[in-house]
Amino acid sequence: MKNRNPRTFQVKSFGCQMNVYDGQRMAELLEAEGLAPAGEAEPADLVVLNTCHIREKAAEKVYSEIGRLLHRPGESQPLVAVAGCVAQAEGAEIPRRAPGVDIVVGPQAYHNLPELVRRARQGEKAVDTDMPALSKFDALPGRRRQAPAAFLTVQEGCDKFCTYCVVPYTRGAEVSRPWAAILDEAKALVDRGTREITLLGQNVNAWEGEDEKGRRQGLGGLIGALDALPGLARIRYTTSHPNDMREDLVRAHAEVAKLMPFLHLPVQSGSDRILKAMNRSHSVESYVRAIERVRSARPDIAVSGDFIVGFPGETEEDFEATLLLVGAVNYAQAYSFKYSPRPGTPAAGMPDQVPAEVMDDRLQRLQGLLREQQLAFNRATVGARTEILVERTGRKPGQLIGKSPWLQSVHLEAGRAAIGDLVEVQILDAGPNSLSGAPLMRSAA
Ligand code: SAH
Ligand code: SF4
Ligand code: F3S
Repeated sequence: MKNRNPRTFQVKSFGCQMNVYDGQRMAELLEAEGLAPAGEAEPADLVVLNTCHIREKAAEKVYSEIGRLLHRPGESQPLVAVAGCVAQAEGAEIPRRAPGVDIVVGPQAYHNLPELVRRARQGEKAVDTDMPALSKFDALPGRRRQAPAAFLTVQEGCDKFCTYCVVPYTRGAEVSRPWAAILDEAKALVDRGTREITLLGQNVNAWEGEDEKGRRQGLGGLIGALDALPGLARIRYTTSHPNDMREDLVRAHAEVAKLMPFLHLPVQSGSDRILKAMNRSHSVESYVRAIERVRSARPDIAVSGDFIVGFPGETEEDFEATLLLVGAVNYAQAYSFKYSPRPGTPAAGMPDQVPAEVMDDRLQRLQGLLREQQLAFNRATVGARTEILVERTGRKPGQLIGKSPWLQSVHLEAGRAAIGDLVEVQILDAGPNSLSGAPLMRSAA
């Protein structure tokens, strides 16, 4: 039996940080409508699956999640909403394939969720994958979230059309949110206790707008304005495109102390031939030059990247060029993926698709090298004194976890620090994925 009178909800987000942000906004919206977040162990009456379409595995996961939700033993079935990029890509096809799904809502339409829930209460299948000209942000209630570190989407969509990628289709064209709306949201977050804001966008460094005096500004200017917010201690941004590393942003890394020394700059491949086939519109050399510019502005910057192995036509020689690039850049961390053909993208129809076992082998070799670099980066911080923003409790009793300026997870013994504190620590030990540290003293909040 379907529960058509939901009182509690759960939002489960998959995929990128922009989806995490959207998931939080949907939760705030449902709360504003009078629904309550379901407790950890209790089954929710309405479940929103906020999905990702980037690779086949991510997209297929949705259907197993739906299956699990609809076969909860001995309980009534929840209302199921599919949101996010799979919703956008598959639309009304989803309830046809999975009849237990009640609502389908795309990433640009989720401000309509309350109306869609009303229709689902009546037993209707409610589908909304519009990309309206009016921004959903204007229709969302104010921020309610309280957390030391928060995401803030400033730019959405992508016009770059890399030949492997679904994002331009699922998220639509590049749009920058207005200056004032961003500053207002940042203030609201800081008023509720946020100390660190990560500005988000599929191409966040393509953000542009006009400040309150009507001057053109880029992301660097926006970061400068956020720097002036009292109470905000840290600023980050992700994800950037190599072609949009403009001078104002590079300068911000030299001039804005609150801007953390971390740059996530995806490259995908170290072979110009493959970059061209990917339609990346940058070369290996221009990518390296972008990193050099940021490194000369902020020498301690930690560089991160994204890689795809096994793009159609990638030879052993192309792949070795990627390893060479990794050797030259020296990454503090990175994400790497096997190429996954996506329906509707040009690369899916390209000849010379790379066999699975070749991709497996290349991914292992690449990840081996990236892991070594990450461990070396982490080990180099042992002994250093640095500031940690404490974000959450750890798994062990009395343990707290925070982030270093370089986005490393640092484990601390609780006692002299609490969630939301910025604490001076000495780094004691480093593994590949996290560090441990000891608080030196409590810094003034
Ligand atoms: N806008 C960002 C992030 C896009 S999605 C950028 O341009 O870098 C995040 C990452 O997923 C990409 O950087 C890419 O490495 C990976 N990715 C995207 N499409 C993929 C596909 N079809 N197969 C495998 N990895 C993919
Ligand atoms: Fe996808 Fe390329 Fe746009 Fe990144 S820049 S979102 S990889 S199309
Ligand atoms: Fe996935 Fe959509 Fe983000 S496809 S990576 S959730 S933009």
